[in-house]
Amino acid sequence: MSSTSLSGSSLCRLASIVAVVCLIFLYTSPMIGRQPPLPAPNMTKTNSSLYPKEEKPVLLLWVWPQDYRFDLSDCKTIYNIDGCHLTDDRSLYSNTDAVLIFHRAISWDLSTLPPSPRPPFQKWIWMNVESPTNTQKIPGIENLFNLTLSYREDSDIPVRLRLTSRKIPDKDFEIPKKEKLICWVVSNNLDWTGVSIRNAYFQELRKYVYIHLYGKAFGTFLDYKDYFPTIASCKFYLSFENSIHKDYITEKLNGPLAVGTVPVVLGPPRKNYERFVPGDSFIHVNDFPDAKSLAEYLQRLDQDDEAYRRYFNWRRHFSARPHLILQNQEFVLAICSACDYVGRHQEYKEAHDIYEWFFN
Ligand SMILES: *[C@@H]1O[C@H](CO)[C@@H](O)[C@H](O)[C@H]1NC(C)=O
Ligand SMILES: *[C@@H]1O[C@H](CO)[C@@H](O)[C@H](O)[C@H]1NC(C)=O
Ligand SMILES: *[C@@H]1O[C@H](CO)[C@@H](O)[C@H](O)[C@H]1NC(C)=O
Repeated sequence: MSSTSLSGSSLCRLASIVAVVCLIFLYTSPMIGRQPPLPAPNMTKTNSSLYPKEEKPVLLLWVWPQDYRFDLSDCKTIYNIDGCHLTDDRSLYSNTDAVLIFHRAISWDLSTLPPSPRPPFQKWIWMNVESPTNTQKIPGIENLFNLTLSYREDSDIPVRLRLTSRKIPDKDFEIPKKEKLICWVVSNNLDWTGVSIRNAYFQELRKYVYIHLYGKAFGTFLDYKDYFPTIASCKFYLSFENSIHKDYITEKLNGPLAVGTVPVVLGPPRKNYERFVPGDSFIHVNDFPDAKSLAEYLQRLDQDDEAYRRYFNWRRHFSARPHLILQNQEFVLAICSACDYVGRHQEYKEAHDIYEWFFN
């Protein structure tokens, strides 16, 4: 009896020691005492081999514009743009934050648009780098998009290679050796693309001064490697836009600025140019009453090195850089600009009546 009661109290003591030890152990051991936190669900990552590993927003290039393909990593290597996961893989559609849709690739029956309904978080970007003159009004897309991408400054994503300011003035710039007075490189000369204004001006100008002509339009194809050196070898370059619209100022201006040649521009008014480049970096055809007086002015500058040199003063404080010139690179800047935007913006957005905005 006593042995039983004794062993009973020993057991009891043993049990309480075990219980205390257990409690201490349970309390101090996070692994056993508490449930480990549940892993946060990866809402978008159901198949890790299918989806990108990074958390970057996905930008889907719905079609390759004009089928000009390039390495999608060029955005990083050329422009240091790395804010999105850029892909052309349509199987990622349902996980895609933004879809880049090239206007010219939209068919009249709209069957080439991505499928509906689109995921609620997804934005469609209307991509059009042409001017209104060269844009077809395909009906039914006016209120489909969330963002606009074009040359217009009031686009959600304006596409432009810009001058950059330099803190340390560039004192080493030397005007490249000049062999010719005026040059013009033209590939497209099709009337329906709106080129009649620039052609009329060119026909008038050439009556008074010799113009060196290059490019497909004149049957003298300029090799890509000769493009910038040729422009650099001329004192003046005709930066004539194919059609005249606000903000429609293209790489035709950037080329001569980048290589050290004075652009003679035909396009929107001077004030519009001065939004993007210094007023003393170019000559505007509207600065002269007619082509004859422009020709005379250019010939005078040819004789006056000091006056010519003043057109390069801006270079001390600003830099222009050459644009991409290979055919398959035509849309690289636009596509990379979209990637940059998508990487920075998550806001809700709808773009309404895009034609009313774009054509007016
Ligand atoms: C969840 O996402 C993170 C961050 O991208 C990743 O490291 C992790 O492997 C993902 N987990 C699963 C189960 O996919
Ligand atoms: C994940 O995607 C790969 C490639 O598309 C596919 O082969 C695989 O079956 C998928 N796995 C699951 C679990 O869906
Ligand atoms: C995108 O625009 C469409 C149509 O205007 C709208 O229904 C949708 O909610 C918008 N989505 C986002 C993520 O902004």
